[in-house]
Amino acid sequence: MSVTDERLQLPFERPNILELAPLYEVLRRQAPVTPVTTPAGDPAWLVTRFDDVRALLGDKRLGRSHPEPERASRITTAAVQDGPTGSYATEAADHARMRRLLTPAFSAKRMRLLTDHVQDLVDGYLDRLVAERAAAPGGVVDLHAGLAFPLPVAVICRLLGVPEDDREHFRALSERMASYTSGDDAHRARAEFSGYMTGLAEGKRAEPGEDVISDLVRAQSDDEGFDYNEMVRLCVGLLFAGHETTVNRIGLGTLFLLTRPDQWQGLTADPAGRVNATVEEIMRLGAPGDLGLLRYAHTDLDVDGVTVHRGDALILSINAANRDRSAYADAETFDPDRAERAHLGFGHGAHFCIGASLARTELRIVFATLARRLPGLRLAKDIDDLEVRTTITGGVTELPVTW
Ligand code: HEM
Repeated sequence: MSVTDERLQLPFERPNILELAPLYEVLRRQAPVTPVTTPAGDPAWLVTRFDDVRALLGDKRLGRSHPEPERASRITTAAVQDGPTGSYATEAADHARMRRLLTPAFSAKRMRLLTDHVQDLVDGYLDRLVAERAAAPGGVVDLHAGLAFPLPVAVICRLLGVPEDDREHFRALSERMASYTSGDDAHRARAEFSGYMTGLAEGKRAEPGEDVISDLVRAQSDDEGFDYNEMVRLCVGLLFAGHETTVNRIGLGTLFLLTRPDQWQGLTADPAGRVNATVEEIMRLGAPGDLGLLRYAHTDLDVDGVTVHRGDALILSINAANRDRSAYADAETFDPDRAERAHLGFGHGAHFCIGASLARTELRIVFATLARRLPGLRLAKDIDDLEVRTTITGGVTELPVTW
């Protein structure tokens, strides 16, 4: 495999994000800042080395908005473009406000409250899967539909303060909003979601609780009026940022472990002792596929000898960075005992994932509980027959298992 002067077209023509490693190795060595064409046909730079990606994520000369918004490359779907637009100054001010409003939601106290709830949810999903398996042909059940998919949205409901009875309605709305194939319906769903959240906020005003909507009501009670649009935007942002990402880490993590019996046995022998390191290794190797974090240059800058001009789009590949041999020994090996523990799976710098502690809590509870309760777990389908998408978040759509 070699890199030519031609622009590479994203997404790469590879069916499976787990197969991108050799291409990344060539890029990191020969063209660590390489010209690519985005799925929408616009030019961008793909950055693949760990040190570059980390440095650029912390570099204030880059921003998530284009210095001249009308000229921005459109990297992929609407969900990714949903972020702030406008000048860098507006972006920075909006961003600081967003982080401030969401800070109480991820405090240590809230995380403790959520931990018990996550454990109850995981145990409930596993109880249902165990019952389902007894009647299922061949004893095969789908861990994606029965655990990985429903868990993160149920947790976000608790985080926001959506009552349990409304969860199903909320989940259906969020799925419709996220559907890239049904533009009109996605808009209708967004309007319905707004209406629902507005009603919820009215209720929290009268009876606040330990949740995001109540935080927002409290934070804004001194202002002239409650900004319902901002609340809806923040909640949609949390859903997009925290749902599929977590679903896919559960799915990929399960694949990593069940296709490496020694790792799975190690975890079942000592779930409490091994789960944290196992989750960090899942986060390292299970990073999103061939797309990455989008940034725009706000001044001309030099990256590895390549001149990047003001307004250029950069795609910072977390997946490539997390597999960089100069940052990790045996970078492609799944090894929770490795010495280098830092990774870029939750980003870095000003936009570092605000939900990282919650995501870690979910992943640790999922894998520790699976190892404890279902030590004989195994895939019921060959891994080559499973579809592993190359989407921005990357993941599986089914996980047939038995035990
Ligand atoms: C930001 C990954 C779970 C909320 C980010 C970023 C990454 C990331 C890479 C940085 C984006 C950038 O720099 O442009 C993940 C992964 C998750 C996860 C892999 C699951 C394993 C969650 C959860 C929530 C959440 C559960 C909340 C419910 C956010 C928010 C941001 C963010 C609000 C934007 C932060 C900012 O712009 O300052 N996440 N995330 N994430 N994440 Fe997560």
